[in-house]
This record gives sequence, structure tokens and C-alpha cells, in this order.
Amino acid sequence: MEILEIQEKVHDESKQGEAFSPFKVDPNLYKKRFYIESYGCAMNFSDSEIVASILNTEGFGATKRFEEADLVLLNTCSIREKAEQTVRKRLTEFRKTKNKKPGMLIGVLGCMAERLKTKLLEEEKLVDLVVGPDAYRSLPSLIEETDGGQKSVNVLLSRDETYADISPVRLNSNGICAFISIMRGCNNMCSFCVVPFTRGRERSRDAHSIIAEANDLYNRGFREVTLLGQNVDSYNWIDESNGETITFAKLLEKVAKVSPDMRIRFSTSHPKDITDEVLYTMAKYENICKYIHLPVQSGSSRILQLMNRTYSREWYIAKVDRIKEIMPDCSISADIIAGFCTETEEDHQDTLSIMEYSKYDYSYMFFYSERPGTLAEKRYKDDIPEETKRRRLQEIIEVQNRLSKESNLLDIDKTFKVLIEGESKKNNKDWKGRNSQNKVLIFPKENYSLNAGDYVMVKVDECTQGTLLGKIVNE
Ligand code: SAH
Ligand code: SF4
Ligand code: F3S
Repeated sequence: MEILEIQEKVHDESKQGEAFSPFKVDPNLYKKRFYIESYGCAMNFSDSEIVASILNTEGFGATKRFEEADLVLLNTCSIREKAEQTVRKRLTEFRKTKNKKPGMLIGVLGCMAERLKTKLLEEEKLVDLVVGPDAYRSLPSLIEETDGGQKSVNVLLSRDETYADISPVRLNSNGICAFISIMRGCNNMCSFCVVPFTRGRERSRDAHSIIAEANDLYNRGFREVTLLGQNVDSYNWIDESNGETITFAKLLEKVAKVSPDMRIRFSTSHPKDITDEVLYTMAKYENICKYIHLPVQSGSSRILQLMNRTYSREWYIAKVDRIKEIMPDCSISADIIAGFCTETEEDHQDTLSIMEYSKYDYSYMFFYSERPGTLAEKRYKDDIPEETKRRRLQEIIEVQNRLSKESNLLDIDKTFKVLIEGESKKNNKDWKGRNSQNKVLIFPKENYSLNAGDYVMVKVDECTQGTLLGKIVNE
């Protein structure tokens, strides 16, 4: 397993700084080219698909090479200091190209744009555009302003923007799996977290538009959708036409009914908000994947309180028990922060032991990075030395590596229904897919005539820490 402290993502499909090339550029259709690179969580990747859609209607086609772009965009993340440093480095690289090609516009989108606002223009003199996550509709007019030689900024946060009516351009897609953004913002105030400041108030997207998007994806051959939000379990939308309140459980059910052949995943669940109704809905529908990302952050009740997570160690453990009671085959993953303010060795041991208890199949692990403006920055001292943070993180990673391996060993000899996502990167004679529990399976194609998007039964006969290896079985 790679060291996850440097990962700025909440979904394992997001790749750091990946550039997109969604389609061949038709020179008659698109007069100009844009290049977009995305950092951070799945929501940022999903937003880039909305930005691509807006830019397409303005005559911009995508390119994979920033040197040939008229407009270069970085969709940025502020979650940890390291995430911002990466973007700053990238901007310096763009500077060289811009010096040779002065007409090129450079824009910063996303959470760093929101956090730093006009400061970005002062600090990074080559930036022409600064656009926050709720202001992408204004991109065309901002680009027009900058074309006139001016610098443009729009970082207004909105109480109702959900981009519900914009049909995302699926960037870098395998044609099988897609994200659907169901809500924006976050009303929680976890003391370490910058997201409530960069993404604004929580708002839920019109359920009809979500179902329509899922239907459209299914009709275009997609077979898996991931419903996205910072806290999906607090999704709540009132249908004005009949007064019906759509909760997350109801939404899940509606999406599950689009087709039994389309898998549903979701990310992220705050432990305090995931209800029995959601768990029972997951259990009821075979196509809702038996996998919950349930960030714990810490195993110590004292630290959880300082983090303002609103649950205790015991409460979280009871939630894990409940999940396993309702869905014994459900896999669970977590986010974990090492070295939060005042964390003692005993608190750290509590984190290691809650990992053992929960038997996480996977975790995203970070050391604490103080973020300006957060409650923790205002209230507490970032008092754990970096070497202690790193050592504790390493211990957390080692426990997780063992748990992942143990969990995979338990799958040997089991048979899983796998959705084929494409060829294995290492060998084109093998397929790669995932089971409901979100584990990756690699298996030989043999002589079966199968395609990406098909379901197949695979029996596991070997494993590594990160992958199950098996063979197709006829059942
Ligand atoms: N909304 C999601 C989390 C989004 S941020 C949730 O509540 O679960 C993804 C992860 O980044 C968090 O779960 C947390 O583990 C980590 N994170 C957030 N702020 C951090 C900080 N200041 N330092 C280190 N890790 C942080
Ligand atoms: Fe951040 Fe907490 Fe909101 Fe997640 S729930 S985005 S960690 S404030
Ligand atoms: Fe990063 Fe913003 Fe997502 S801070 S994790 S891109 S919401």
C-alpha cells in the first residue's frame, strides 16, 4: 500500500493532478482549447466535469497537453498544506510556458481559489482567473473579461447552487463507472477541517435531476454510479410538487430502482448521520454495494470531542456493530488523522485499537496539518512534533496493511459477482473489476466472450494486500 499521507482524495479512482482528454477535439466545433488538472476529493473531479460541460458550450474543446491550451485550469484542494504546495509547484511550471505564450490564460478553481481569493493573484502573479466552487457558471463571462487583459475573480459562495441542470462531460471515463454529485457544502464543523469554509453551506440537489442523470448514464452503458457529497447521509430534498421529503435512504432506493444491473455506491458518510433506514435500504437492494466509507478520524473520545466529531469511541463502535449486524458482508473503510492537537500515546493507542476492532478493509491515513481559519487553528496549539506525527502515522499504516491483508485472506475460496471495468493495466489477457465490497479483482479473460460492463462470477484463489486474484466460474 502506498503511503497515503500524500493522497488528497476520498475515492480511490481519483488520481492526483490527472489531466483529462475526454474526446477528440473537433476543430470545427471547438475554436479554442482548455486543459484542466484536478486535485483533491472526488467532488473536485466531479466539478471538473461540470466545468468541462460549461466550457464546451463556450467553444472550448479539451486537450491533454497544457502547452497547446488557450486556457489552463487547476481545480485545487486545500485540505492539507501539502495539497496547496503541490498546486503552487505546478503553477511555477506553467509560468515558463506562459512566458513563451503570453495569450494563454491560467485559472485557479476549487478550494484554494475559495480560501485565498484575491491573494492568489497577488502571490501568484501569473494567475489570470480565480473561481470558487459555486461560481463556475460565471466562467464564460470571467474568461471574456480576462481576454480584455483584466484579472477576474468570483469566489461567491451560494446557498442554492447545485449545478443540477448541467450535464457533466464524463472526463477520462472508463465508460462503466461515473460520479453523480448529490449535494454540495458541509454544515459540520469538524475543528480540523477547511471544507465548510471553502465549500459553503450544505444544500441538496433536486432528486429528479439525480435520477434523470442516473437513467441517462445507464442508457449510455454505464453500470456503476457513486453518489457524492461531503456528508451524503444528511441529503434532504423536499419535492415541492407533492410535499414529499426525500431523505438519503429514499434517494438510494430511487437510484437503485433505475436498473438492477446498475451498481450504486456513495461517499462520504459521517458516522453520526448514517441511519438504520440507510442500512436497511442497502441490505434490501442487491445492487447497492455493501461498502461504507465511515471516517473515524481518531479512536479516542477525548480527541474526537476536540475534533468536534459529535460521537464518542463507544458510539462509533456501536455503529460498526450495527452495520455488521444488518449486513454481515459489508466492508468498511475509514479516514484517520494522526497527531491531532494534544494527542497522547494513549490516544494514539486508542486509534490503533479501534482500527483492530472495526477491521477496516482499507483506510486513508494522514497526519494532522493545521489549516488557517479552522476552529482547531483558533483554539488549540498544533503541539505534536512532526516526527511523532510521522511515527504514529507509520504505525497506523502498518496496522492497516495487516488488516487489509487479513481481510483479503478471508476472501480466498469465496466467489464474488464482479463488474468488469476494463483490462488489467499489467496484462491485457486479464480483466480488472470490483466486487460489491469495493475490492479489486484480477482474473484471466480465458476464452469467455465478455466485455467491460458485464457481470461475472469470480472465485478467489490468491491475494496480495491490495488485490484479489481469481478465476471465472460458471454458476
Ligand atoms: N467529508 C468527509 C471528509 C472530507 S476531507 C468526511 O467528513 O468524512 C477527507 C479527509 O481528510 C477527512 O476525513 C480527514 O481524515 C482528512 N483531513 C481533513 N482535514 C485535515 C487536516 N487538517 N489534516 C489532516 N487531515 C485532514
Ligand atoms: Fe470536513 Fe467534517 Fe464536513 Fe467532513 S464532515 S467535510 S471532515 S467538516
Ligand atoms: Fe480538498 Fe476541497 Fe475536496 S479542500 S478534499 S477539494 S472539498
